[in-house]
Amino acid sequence: MKKFGDISIDFAGIKLVNPVFTASGTCGYADELDDFIDLDSLGGFITKSITVKPRKGNAVPRIVETDSGMLNAIGLANIGLEKFIEEKIPVLEKMSAAVFVNVAGTTIDEYAAVAERLSKEKAIAGFELNISCPNVKKGGISFGTDPVQIKEITSAVKAAAGKKVLMVKLTPSVADISVTADAAVDGGADALSLVNTFTGMVIDIESRKPVLSNRTGGLSGPAIKPLAVYLVNKVYNEVTKGSDVPILGLGGIRTASDAVEFIIAGATAVAVGTTNFIEPDSAMKIAEGIKKYCERKQVSVKELIGSLK
Ligand SMILES: Cc1cc2nc3c(=O)[nH]c(=O)nc-3n(C[C@H](O)[C@H](O)[C@H](O)COP(=O)(O)O)c2cc1C
Repeated sequence: MKKFGDISIDFAGIKLVNPVFTASGTCGYADELDDFIDLDSLGGFITKSITVKPRKGNAVPRIVETDSGMLNAIGLANIGLEKFIEEKIPVLEKMSAAVFVNVAGTTIDEYAAVAERLSKEKAIAGFELNISCPNVKKGGISFGTDPVQIKEITSAVKAAAGKKVLMVKLTPSVADISVTADAAVDGGADALSLVNTFTGMVIDIESRKPVLSNRTGGLSGPAIKPLAVYLVNKVYNEVTKGSDVPILGLGGIRTASDAVEFIIAGATAVAVGTTNFIEPDSAMKIAEGIKKYCERKQVSVKELIGSLK
């Protein structure tokens, strides 16, 4: 007799109690969320991007609301590697959810240095390689749009990451995402996450200036969901299907139905981002909703993955 209430999954060799992560940059380093949700109810947690040195990020304004979403140009503001180890690892160590550290940098060596330094930390299950940030001048998306550089940076970080799982986060701002996904897999990625934000602009018509000080920002939230579902399905069909490389699907997930759409499209797990700012306990509710869907449909999460007809 099958147990449909069990929504635990295997994600690149890591056992998750459910397929729901929180997305990088929307939940800080976990301690910020402690008062709002039971962190152990998450399948996975992804930290804000970490760089070798602390970064102040871009000048304000760096967030603006849009129809069905938001545009951000934070610019990878973060506390830096040393402070992260000192102050945040002790918090992350107590979590039962799989912790992924999102890694960023301006050179391949910087990315590899973060992964290497954290490769022995027991609190960490894996890394998410952010080669898709649209809001920084050096690094970020400039790595993530060139298949040659993607393969190079992925293999360098994979070598530095030791036994930790390496997930590569893809940008949607490319002509063919299967080409960049392929390059990441070729470089040794254990998992792929998609998508990061779509580059956009909001203009103040009185001043005729962009609202964000960075001029452009990354669009996230429900506005991008159909685009992200399509890209997950494309990468699943053209790159990962039949392989042991799972996809973490994200982009505009607000409800359990949204999450189920991503899983049917080909994602093994999902991440909740912008919705956390409105409803901090949404990931928990989404996991519950996935469970109810599986019970109602008499299907396991595993059977749902890529089951699009
Ligand atoms: C305010 C904000 C900050 C973000 N910071 C990061 C970051 O530091 N690193 C990263 O890889 N993605 C970052 N992202 C992108 C999200 O992780 C996610 O890929 C994107 O927002 C799409 O998902 P969503 O529509 O559910 O928010 C950020 C998004 C937002 C809205």
